[in-house]
Amino acid sequence: MSFDTSSLFRSGLPPAEQPWAPAPRFSFVGGNNDADNVPFGGLAEAAVSVLRREGTSLATYNLGGGPQGYDPLREFICHKLGARAHMACDPGQVLVTSGSLQALDLVNGVFLEPGDTVIVEQATYGGMLSRLARLGVEVLGAELDEHGIRTDALAEQLTALAAAGKRPKYIYTIPTVQNPTGTVMPLERRRELLELARAHKALIFEDDCYADLLWSGERPPTIRSLDGDGGHVVYCGSFSKSIAPALRVGYIVADWPVLARMLALKTDAGSGALEQMVLAEYAASHFDSHVDQLRTVLRAKCDAMTAAVTDSFGNAATFVAPQGGIFLWLAFPDGVDTGALAGPAAAEGIEFNPGAGWSADPAWGRNRLRLCFGAPSPDTIREGVAALAGVFAREAGLGVGR
Ligand SMILES: Cc1ncc(COP(=O)(O)O)c(C=O)c1O
Repeated sequence: MSFDTSSLFRSGLPPAEQPWAPAPRFSFVGGNNDADNVPFGGLAEAAVSVLRREGTSLATYNLGGGPQGYDPLREFICHKLGARAHMACDPGQVLVTSGSLQALDLVNGVFLEPGDTVIVEQATYGGMLSRLARLGVEVLGAELDEHGIRTDALAEQLTALAAAGKRPKYIYTIPTVQNPTGTVMPLERRRELLELARAHKALIFEDDCYADLLWSGERPPTIRSLDGDGGHVVYCGSFSKSIAPALRVGYIVADWPVLARMLALKTDAGSGALEQMVLAEYAASHFDSHVDQLRTVLRAKCDAMTAAVTDSFGNAATFVAPQGGIFLWLAFPDGVDTGALAGPAAAEGIEFNPGAGWSADPAWGRNRLRLCFGAPSPDTIREGVAALAGVFAREAGLGVGR
């Protein structure tokens, strides 16, 4: 018998992963992209040209440059944020990360310790919630409406916290194409949020993962851009949703005192350089046209998804039509437990994200769920949503289905 290493595991490990299994027929989970719109031809050409020109630099860690990432990519990120999101930044404020998940880890690593309090949006990214749970911090949800965080309610929440002697370390927001609700926070709310953060001496952690996938193509100014030199906002973004998630390229924009601390925690000797080189080479001349095309395709899938939900679930499911992105957030009547329906759905080859895992308060999220439409085709979306409605009708007694 082989040596049982489990007796040596440290305490406090997260639960073990299950072996990977291929996605079922109707997979509406995961922030995956439309396979037909990965620009692999352009990426291949970019790879050849950048490697022919600069391939020898791969001989040195960080391509012989600094640990913040490939210079042309950081320059492109600044150019893109200036042109598309009204945000001035210089490459010295940019740290390229291995996906924006590493950005979340670095921000949490610098700012959080057990017992701290953070505010997140009432419905938010499950990957952030699981991280915060592991860190042993208190997570409070800020109420949302169709324009993102309700700043009036947040003001009261912050005042009550201050009265209890608590100050949240940060307010985590996904203001432009919120995950999972697909809403966009208007400019005025962004200003109000910043004012609240200033007044309560809290940081804003602005996650703009999906901002390039806004149907209108008109991104509002980032919250960080509204702060000027105020230092109240740490910003992160990603190329996962605009180009391809498997590239694993994300980035942080922050002031040097914060970046300097993150660099001390980023112990991977630099994020993969080849993808940074290829991305920078490709994006310099193709990013805008690629994203325009991708948005059109995703919007058609979103329309297919909302139409399918309306057809198949009728009044039993309510939603706010997303303003961009790759997912739809549904609410069902009180008493419906979407977590309990995941098993029966899986038995019929359907996967979705039960709302509890995407909610600061799992009880609030119990009757909600998230459906991703980035990867499946419109036909698969229609068929899968009808099949899901059938499961809900049978298992939850909702008057839905065909
Ligand atoms: C809001 C949000 N932030 C960050 C991430 C992490 O993405 P990545 O590490 O692929 O950049 C995701 C992934 O789905 C997300 O939804």
